[in-house]
Amino acid sequence: MEDLYDRVMDLARRRGFIWHSYEIYGGVRGFIDLGPLGVILKRRIEDKWRRFFVDRLGLLEIETPIVSPKIVFEASGHLEHFKDPMTVCTGCGRAYRLDHLIKDSVNIPDSRLEGLGLDDLEKLVYNYDIRCPQCGSKLGKPEYFLTMFETRIGPLSGDIGYARPETAQGIFIAFKRLLEYNRGSLPFGVAQIGRVLRNEISPRQGPIRLREFTIAEFEFFFDPEDRSCPYISEVENEELRILTAEQRIKGLDEPITITVGEAIGKGLIKLEWLAYFMALAKRFLRELGVPDDKQRFIEKLDSERAHYSIQGFDQEVYLSRWGWVEVSGHNYRTDYDLSRHQRFSGVELTVFKQYPSPIKAKKLVVKPDYRSIGSKYREEAKTIIATLSRMDPYDVKRAVSEKGWIEIEGYRIESSDIRFIEEDYEESGRKFIAHVVEPSFGVERMLYVVLEYAYSEVDGRIVLKLPKDLAPIQIAVYPLLSRDGLPEKAYQIYRSIKDAGFRVEYDESGSIGRRYARADEIGIPIVVTVDYRSLEDGTVTLRDRDTWRQVRVDTLNLVDKLRIYFEGRVSFSELGIPV
Ligand code: GLY
Repeated sequence: MEDLYDRVMDLARRRGFIWHSYEIYGGVRGFIDLGPLGVILKRRIEDKWRRFFVDRLGLLEIETPIVSPKIVFEASGHLEHFKDPMTVCTGCGRAYRLDHLIKDSVNIPDSRLEGLGLDDLEKLVYNYDIRCPQCGSKLGKPEYFLTMFETRIGPLSGDIGYARPETAQGIFIAFKRLLEYNRGSLPFGVAQIGRVLRNEISPRQGPIRLREFTIAEFEFFFDPEDRSCPYISEVENEELRILTAEQRIKGLDEPITITVGEAIGKGLIKLEWLAYFMALAKRFLRELGVPDDKQRFIEKLDSERAHYSIQGFDQEVYLSRWGWVEVSGHNYRTDYDLSRHQRFSGVELTVFKQYPSPIKAKKLVVKPDYRSIGSKYREEAKTIIATLSRMDPYDVKRAVSEKGWIEIEGYRIESSDIRFIEEDYEESGRKFIAHVVEPSFGVERMLYVVLEYAYSEVDGRIVLKLPKDLAPIQIAVYPLLSRDGLPEKAYQIYRSIKDAGFRVEYDESGSIGRRYARADEIGIPIVVTVDYRSLEDGTVTLRDRDTWRQVRVDTLNLVDKLRIYFEGRVSFSELGIPV
């Protein structure tokens, strides 16, 4: 018997949601095509995400390029850290992601694996005598593989570029413009939905682990001295199931259930904004059809967290074939990215926050002795003094008081050449680098999750019980038979529903039973059927996908009724008289 994953994927292929890319050439792992219904379902998930996060929080949405020059990923730390451990079989030459291979071969919890260095992984391979699953040969020496796709920008070989593995960097790079757009004030968030590429070593999980996929994420910028989230009361009582890092280190795998308020109070979630977005993410997944007990958050261990994060949680959903799978990641990225881009670009990426009224303060000022420096260093004196004036006075004072001198432009400047004075001044505000919290969702994973949780079989037939705001096709209009004026009447009704802005299909081919079955398989919530009585009294039947119940409705107010039904203002049985 095929498992649920196979049945969902079979439906997804047959009905035009998802199939493997490059099928006629044998396929390439880690790539999927979205078929006609898959494209619409994905767009509906993205639109829902926009309504749920972008519109609710007033986020700014931008689009930035997929390809970036090398400096971006030098600055972001990806070139140094975005690597996975790999081994190549000495017999058949197959490449494996080593930590995954070890996990599949021996029963070791994730917490013992992630973050292990190459030597530790090699020891595990040796101790457990792990060999190539395909040919049984010994595995080669582990090495790190950079999982970013490298390319050339333009024809000249010098310009190396990388495909982005996250959309976030495009947002950080544009921070100065975005801050200006937001009239210089914090907090604000910036969203981006876009394609990313990760050159996974050996992806074997269909739509779950892809080399090219879509991320929907936002970077929420805030003042680190003003960390409270004004909306936290909206979610304070929301219960989260969390597997904490502490539990994981102890080898426990049953999450605790804790309210957002308690999780913040106990310091389990270090930041209100992080907790707020996690609670929204839970509600979002619930609206995609995932019950609360099939989702959880798992706190990343120190060794597992991305290099930019000081606290991170993965939101996981339980999937039939794969167990707990990450659908979104929530990280407190601090000022890591902006500070690094400021340093690498030389462009100031700070925020200036004006005080309500200026405050009096003292500042340290370095006063070089022009005559003494001039007489000792002659024509170099000007450069030395200019460099000195650009340096942080506190660094200069520290160096001089520790050593009695400081080296500038290769020359030793003695303490007798410099005086330090404290000057009064008025400070009108504070300059700082914004901190960032980031929720990041994998769109194709959510698409698969939606399909698996919507999939059901009733009396041996497949019914795709998609949430009605996600259904790619909302309404079908079918004449009972394809004769006697029924098609004409049905087509007229189809046009009026279509003109009202619904996504609707018309079909008159085959038996009505087969058409209902197909409508159920692709998750159409409502079928309008036109029969002989429709020609007499202008009424039609509406059929509910999930209960197969039918009601009779007058066509005069059909469009209005459909509208309030899809807006969730009435239930199906309130639409008309039961048949
Ligand atoms: N920006 C989130 C990630 O790279 O996974």
